[in-house]
Amino acid sequence: MQIVNSAKELRQTLDRLRLSAKKIGFVPTMGFLHEGHLSLVERCKKENDVVVVSIFVNPTQFNVSSDLENYPKDLDNDCEILERSGTDYLFLPSVSEMYNIDSSGKTVTDIKISCGEVNSVFEGAFRSGHFDGVALVVTKLFNIVGECRTYFGLKDYQQVYLISKLIQELFLPIEMVKCPTVRQESGLALSSRNARLTDKELVLANEIYFAMKEGKRMIESGITETKKVIELIKNHILKTEEIKLEYVSIVKEDTLVVPELLTDKVRILIAGWLGNVRLIDNLEVNCNSELKDELFEHHLSDSSIISERKIKV
Ligand code: PAF
Repeated sequence: MQIVNSAKELRQTLDRLRLSAKKIGFVPTMGFLHEGHLSLVERCKKENDVVVVSIFVNPTQFNVSSDLENYPKDLDNDCEILERSGTDYLFLPSVSEMYNIDSSGKTVTDIKISCGEVNSVFEGAFRSGHFDGVALVVTKLFNIVGECRTYFGLKDYQQVYLISKLIQELFLPIEMVKCPTVRQESGLALSSRNARLTDKELVLANEIYFAMKEGKRMIESGITETKKVIELIKNHILKTEEIKLEYVSIVKEDTLVVPELLTDKVRILIAGWLGNVRLIDNLEVNCNSELKDELFEHHLSDSSIISERKIKV
């Protein structure tokens, strides 16, 4: 695996590879890799000739400075995981490679991307400016990597929704592959932030998944009133007083609009705090389906990976 710090160098290298008809796959990350990231890299490896992974903790998408400061990092471990998974290029830019920095060391973003409505609902409403920061850095990364297939996890559903809009509306030469959420066997969706949960909180965090499953069962049993299902999910979560809910909603997958009645494909969206860790999750429900299990989600069976909370090599 070659580590590249310069945007220009990466661009030139990948342009050369494209000239010899190589297909480029790209997985953007903020590091502290876990099984969820690994599943993206593995799929990327299967479907492309060249695998590029970026690790960049993007300052402009953090609205709370302590969240940025506490964001977990373990570059040595990340590099070993990526080496083993057959990554060809790790793009590891500094903040000053990606942004201009002023004399007081602050990131300057004269050029901004405004994501409109997405900023005012769900994650956008609770994390002011977050999606503008994501859209800005992802556009920069896509411009550096160039034409490619990119892999994103559905765990961050609103992010996936936003990035597919970005690609479409800015005519970016990027094909997006949406990949299933990876969960512990118990149900908890994997996230780099889980590393900050205590053992007790790791158990309590599963309630988020159980509540969504209960909502899904209710919809599949024929309840069509959105409000009723949202109430049921909220009541389930409220039984665990350690979880401080931010929102629970059910949206149409293709518009993020909350329907009055549940028809077709919808997503249950949820976010809340457990201790000082913010957790988000979502679950797809096909209102016309009798399917009882999420066949598209894979659960990890190796509990040793889970107890270590991230992959250690
Ligand atoms: O999902 C993430 O890890 C980040 O939001 C991303 C897409 C790498 C942009 O910084």
